[in-house]
Amino acid sequence: MKRLTNKRILLGVSGSIAAYKAPDIVRRLQDLGAEVRVVLTQGGAKFITELSLQATSKNKVHDNLWDKEAELAMGHIELAKWADAILVAPASANTLANLSAGKASDLLSNVVLASDAPVLIAPAMNQKMYGSLAVKDNLSILQERNIKFISPEYGEQACGDIGEGRLADPGEIAKQVSEIFSSTKLTGKKVLITLGATIEAIDPVRYLSNHSSGKMGMALARACIEAGAQVTLIHGDVSIPLSNKSNNISANSASEMHQAVMENIGNQDVFIACAAVSDYRVKNIEKNKIKKENKTLTLELIPNKDILADVCKLNHKPICIGFAAETQNLIENAQNKLKNKGCDAIILNDVSRADFGFKMNDNEVVFLTQKSSLKIQKNSKQKIGRKIVEIIIEKFL
Ligand SMILES: Cc1cc2nc3c(=O)[nH]c(=O)nc-3n(C[C@H](O)[C@H](O)[C@H](O)COP(=O)(O)O)c2cc1C
Repeated sequence: MKRLTNKRILLGVSGSIAAYKAPDIVRRLQDLGAEVRVVLTQGGAKFITELSLQATSKNKVHDNLWDKEAELAMGHIELAKWADAILVAPASANTLANLSAGKASDLLSNVVLASDAPVLIAPAMNQKMYGSLAVKDNLSILQERNIKFISPEYGEQACGDIGEGRLADPGEIAKQVSEIFSSTKLTGKKVLITLGATIEAIDPVRYLSNHSSGKMGMALARACIEAGAQVTLIHGDVSIPLSNKSNNISANSASEMHQAVMENIGNQDVFIACAAVSDYRVKNIEKNKIKKENKTLTLELIPNKDILADVCKLNHKPICIGFAAETQNLIENAQNKLKNKGCDAIILNDVSRADFGFKMNDNEVVFLTQKSSLKIQKNSKQKIGRKIVEIIIEKFL
């Protein structure tokens, strides 16, 4: 897998003569697998056209904070949430000053302020400007805020001066972006994840199921794969493509999923039960399609085996993480689940909310253990997945 596969990089291009190299930076990021969107400052637009950046990034270029259409959907906040990392390259002296002062005067500075994604800056300017105390102070303020700094090169500059201030090589910039994602924290670890909705047949054409799409499970799978884990997915009905980097096993009903989990759980280090598994199944599945009749139809339901509880009872159980989709008494119900099933953590989802959860791209969860409760604020499922995996590593591995 390329090091930036599935990564969304927001490239801020500001007003340096080196902005003509921005399309090359876009291409080098894409070579590593990234999806790139560009925010162009007014200064940047003097040195490179929107069209060149649109053609290379294959995405609309964002250049205006006051774009009425984009801001209908709070475009600057959406961009901030979309990004897995923000790269400002080239970063002009003026943009560095804006960022270090925390100004929100243009689209780029707003997006940086509104994002919790890592930020990288690659300055490019005349060697005297780069050596000035003001620029040096701004850079040190930004570095104290954990903004990663990609040093400019020494050499001949556009103005004819020789010194430090030339934009770093685009290939080197892309490499440094990829390095912030490379984690080997799960290398050598095996993770089994269940995802999607189970299907309980009523007759050959009808079934009982639920709204789970598999998106949260896939986000967790991607985060584990990124961190170097060997991932097995046991999936029910899903509405998204599965990773081709995992061992994927299909299981329709809760019973099939129980069996598949039990057959594959040996040697796993972590088990994440993210599938929405039916608690009940139909006792007598009709062999033929039930015919419509003008009277009440009663289905007798019997309980399914509890996959998570059964894994937690194993002698050599892996680290067990469950999900609790709740609509009321959220924390209380999730804590009961944690205790009754004997798992190491429960991730609580409020599925009564209309703005995140089932089928949506966003989620907001609480990571609960016997001793702690940690809220992960609303964000894309991909980011929530990464955060959950980080917490699992930190707490249990
Ligand atoms: C021909 C020319 C070249 C410039 N080159 C640079 C440069 O390489 N680096 C820089 O920091 N500023 C440079 N500037 C100044 C910036 O373009 C100016 O400060 C602008 O306001 C930056 O806007 P921005 O940070 O919003 O993009 C240059 C200006 C001109 C006229």
